[in-house]
Amino acid sequence: MPRIFSGIQPSGDLHIGNWLGAVQNWVALQARNECFFSIVDLHAITGQHDAATLERRTLDMAVGLLAAGVDPARSTFFVQSHVPEHAELMWLLTSVTPLGELERMTQFKDKSQKLESVPAGLFSYPILMAADILLYRAEQVPVGDDQLQHLELARVIARRWNAQFGGGTDVLPEPQSLLTPARRILGLDGQAKMSKSLGNTIGVLEGPEEVWQKLRPAMTDPARKTKRDPGNPDICNIYTLHKHFSPPETVVEVARKCRGAEWGCLDCKRVLADNLSAALAPIRERAASLRADEGAVRAVLAAGAERARAVARVTLAEVKARMGFLPAAGPAGR
Ligand code: TYM
Repeated sequence: MPRIFSGIQPSGDLHIGNWLGAVQNWVALQARNECFFSIVDLHAITGQHDAATLERRTLDMAVGLLAAGVDPARSTFFVQSHVPEHAELMWLLTSVTPLGELERMTQFKDKSQKLESVPAGLFSYPILMAADILLYRAEQVPVGDDQLQHLELARVIARRWNAQFGGGTDVLPEPQSLLTPARRILGLDGQAKMSKSLGNTIGVLEGPEEVWQKLRPAMTDPARKTKRDPGNPDICNIYTLHKHFSPPETVVEVARKCRGAEWGCLDCKRVLADNLSAALAPIRERAASLRADEGAVRAVLAAGAERARAVARVTLAEVKARMGFLPAAGPAGR
């Protein structure tokens, strides 16, 4: 079975951008692949690191993903920091990572521009991401658009490592990305990518009233000043969201009534709010019962980490052997 790896940062709140762009695909892929899904807490400390909430955010993300359909009976589901091999492989890969490639990363450029002092972790972030994937020799990586450049770098790193240490074989296969039609969901501002750090998200676990309060002021076609002006659905993010949450006949109706000024933007948003909340209702319900038994969620993550480590240890041992390290004897070698 093809190997899949993907990760998500523990922002606490799984949003509909994550869900449409990646997590729905994770859930679907479980049927016919060997999947590894990780909550990447080591990546999360390269941004604004709030030690007081990291544990809570990690557990909340676990609840969100399990509720969304990540199935620990079929997939290996774990927290990145519970598998120390990620950090170790990352260090080994730094020796084959070109500095210039890291400097080209657009996410690094965007994020570092906003900071007075740039942590080295933000710069080496993509090497850790490559380590995540290569540790499981994953062939495919379901992600949204924003991760494609990082994935391209993971391929460069694999290629370089194989060329230098692989002895003519692709010990670390070059991973391919898997995208969904929702590869880049815009936020409620209708401008930037939906992202927790921009505060323009709708959470998968938010209730109908919260969803409505967020959709009400959301950006639509800016040229449409009043209800009587005809709108252009093709440039409206609300219309795009209808395509993901409303049945096809509603999508057709929305476009017609927008262009013909039969519906105001609020009418259109009301229908979206209802359909979106209905689509997410089963996930919200599952999350509520998972929250009631947090011990079970912790146990799932512990079992996942055990399974992940068993695979990770094998790759790391081979990588170290090929790089020429003296094997540790005694307890340290086990
Ligand atoms: P993260 O936590 O920002 O996002 C998790 C996944 O959601 C996708 N995504 C989106 N897709 C469509 N529209 C959006 N607005 C949107 N926002 C987020 C992301 O592309 C991602 O697939 N660096 C990664 C986590 C990571 C990882 C990995 C991913 C660490 N190691 C190895 C794959 C493989 C990140 O910060 O994703």
